[in-house]
Amino acid sequence: MAVLVYFAAGAANWQEYRDLLPAACADLGLEVVVSDREPDPALVDYIIFAPGGVVSDFSPFTRCKAVLSLWAGVEKYAGNPTLTQPLARMVNHELTERMVEYVVGHVLRHHLGMDAHITGQDGVWRNDVMPPLARERPVTVLGLGELGRACAQALAALHFPVTGWSRRAKVLPGVDCMSGQDGLGTALARAAIVVCLLPQTAETVDILDARRLAMLPRGATIINPGRGALIEDAALLAALDSGQVGHATLDVFRIEPLPPDHPYWAHPRVTVTPHVAADTRAGSAARVLAENIRRSEAGEPLLHLVDRARGY
Ligand code: NDP
Ligand code: OXD
Repeated sequence: MAVLVYFAAGAANWQEYRDLLPAACADLGLEVVVSDREPDPALVDYIIFAPGGVVSDFSPFTRCKAVLSLWAGVEKYAGNPTLTQPLARMVNHELTERMVEYVVGHVLRHHLGMDAHITGQDGVWRNDVMPPLARERPVTVLGLGELGRACAQALAALHFPVTGWSRRAKVLPGVDCMSGQDGLGTALARAAIVVCLLPQTAETVDILDARRLAMLPRGATIINPGRGALIEDAALLAALDSGQVGHATLDVFRIEPLPPDHPYWAHPRVTVTPHVAADTRAGSAARVLAENIRRSEAGEPLLHLVDRARGY
């Protein structure tokens, strides 16, 4: 009997996946029916899900073997008490590649002081200051998971002195890895640039509050493609106004789209990017979803399972 996959990740996503997902499953020899119409919940084998998806109560899906997320960050549904099925998040090489491009691009913008040349052409020839090399500009990456690790290593390959921070202790070539509260203090204190790639969990919300922002060297740059709730907005605005933080490049926000009257839009030392750091690309994502369905049907462990107790 064909495996029934309920695509509950929204109409826009359905347009992208309606052909790609069945094709990716067929490539793995899986006989599947993929539908975006709500079937009899008791017949559904897998649910594909994303923020804004059309299921809020997962309890009628009694046969469902897994919920497979199109997003890497699952904070919007990992805590749903009706979602008792295994939950797998999205990890794929294109998402990681793109995040590395975003982070390296924005780190280099600040490191090279590109804005001064792009927006400051005033006819004055200023070349009297020797800018620091990457090896003289310490970068800290908060979160050393799939994305943070790849970004930390790409920055280390450019000779930035990279410090990483994660929940559990790690060893990563070229990265000075820290963990725990003391580790966070040290990692922040040495960061000319800090990149936030933590998931949003009960432990990480407001992790960059006024106290922690004060631990940064004066004038440090923040780049946040992780989640908006990692940063206490009022504390960041105050730190930007006082010069404690020199610039913030923010891709993610507590409310998205960022409301037009939000002070971040008009702040001279804030760059807003509209949650574009790393989109899930349907071609490679469909292959990840298909592989997880294949594994589950073969009785093999699922990839990228979310640990519900940790929240990521
Ligand atoms: P992972 O789950 O692979 O990695 C999370 C990292 O954060 C791990 O290193 C983990 O530590 C660390 N961490 C979690 N909680 C804590 C804590 N309390 N203290 C210290 N470290 C902690 O996630 P990904 O790398 O795949 O993704 C990270 C986030 O990036 C996503 O959750 C999402 O919010 C965001 N994202 C944003 C996108 C965008 O376009 N803006 C696109 C994709 C993702 P440990 O290794 O010890 O478990
Ligand atoms: C994700 C994201 O979590 O796009 O995948 O933010």
